[in-house]
Amino acid sequence: MTDSQFSRLSPPPRLLMGPGPINAYPRVLQALSTQLIGQYDPHMTNYMNQVMALYRDVFQTRNQWTLMVDGTARAGIEAVLVSIIEPGDRVLVPIFGRFGYLLQEIAERAGAEVHTIEVPWGEVFSPEQIEAALKQVRPKVLALVQGDTSTTMLQPLADIGALCRHYEALLYCDATASIAGNALLVDDWQLDAVSVGLQKCLGGPSGIAPITLSDRFVEQIRRRHHIEAGIRGEEARPGVGSRIRSNYFDLPMILDYWSEARLNHHTEATSMLYCARECAQIVLEEGLVAGIERHERHGKAMLDGLIAMGLAPFGDLRHKMNNVCAFWIPDGIDGEAIRSALLHDFNLEIGTSFGPLKGKVWRFGTMGYNARQDTVLFTLMALEATLRRAGLSLPSGAAVDAAYQHYTDTL
Ligand SMILES: Cc1ncc(COP(=O)(O)O)c(C=O)c1O
Repeated sequence: MTDSQFSRLSPPPRLLMGPGPINAYPRVLQALSTQLIGQYDPHMTNYMNQVMALYRDVFQTRNQWTLMVDGTARAGIEAVLVSIIEPGDRVLVPIFGRFGYLLQEIAERAGAEVHTIEVPWGEVFSPEQIEAALKQVRPKVLALVQGDTSTTMLQPLADIGALCRHYEALLYCDATASIAGNALLVDDWQLDAVSVGLQKCLGGPSGIAPITLSDRFVEQIRRRHHIEAGIRGEEARPGVGSRIRSNYFDLPMILDYWSEARLNHHTEATSMLYCARECAQIVLEEGLVAGIERHERHGKAMLDGLIAMGLAPFGDLRHKMNNVCAFWIPDGIDGEAIRSALLHDFNLEIGTSFGPLKGKVWRFGTMGYNARQDTVLFTLMALEATLRRAGLSLPSGAAVDAAYQHYTDTL
């Protein structure tokens, strides 16, 4: 036997205060190391049912079809879009950041005729803007991001569901970055399909995508139901409708697997299922409202601290997500050098952004396990020290003082 050419796994103890992923809750890491069981073991199928029930509460829905798609958050997006879109279907995508473009790209790959509307990065849409586009395009699906991590903006959704019903469109929402840190009322807001990931305010690793589907959405996707040849029993009905273009993301087949029929599709990612279960338990034990208030409190402390430091916030703060904020990198400062110094000197990670904002803003997240006073104060202190060393003259201690003030005011 020879020694491995690599050392044992031992990543540095980073504090992840960027836009996600963030450090997982310790309980979630414990869940991740739980022993595997077989995919049809009654304990396993029971866990699958429990996860469905837990995520109904997290999504604030009674949707029976609340389940997991294995893969990162974009697996959830892709499963929803590829299962609902037939080539030539009209899809409307209001874009206010990078992840709107992702929805456009995935819908186009699925063969949709995609129509987009855009607002400048840092803004969100009014219901009137969305209604005008719905009226003009008459799409089968409106695909919308709730919290676009690239800009930190939170699209108000409360009025959009009713508009979609009026114009007979299905409403799909990517709430990966916003869930559990901001209100998300799937039933009250009449959202037909929502997908998320664990790696933001749910406090887990990426690798599984919780989704929830309304009955009317399920009724539509089930019009295209084809069971794989190798698992089709003699009693199986012949396939109906056009075949969904992806096998892995074929939601009607995935629903069969999550139904009592337990018709085999993929091998469920057991460790990620354990994680998803633990994340939901933590969020629900804290209480959804209390958790959102915690994200608001620590997000605001971070915001106040950075403003007091003299940095300028990006975007329309009235529509910012609770859990992430962006700030312009000051003139004359090398944003990447500062991020690198924070990483190497403080084991602290913050983010930059994408596209037009790449290298122009830093993004600071206060999410899940990391939405805490100590992490906020540490980030502010470390950034101030690093900027000072880079030659910026700053009001000494003002950032930490402002954050403390917010904590005192909101006790
Ligand atoms: C709003 C949003 N949607 C989708 C994604 C894609 O997630 P993943 O990288 O897990 O596929 C992200 C990731 O940051 C996101 O913030």
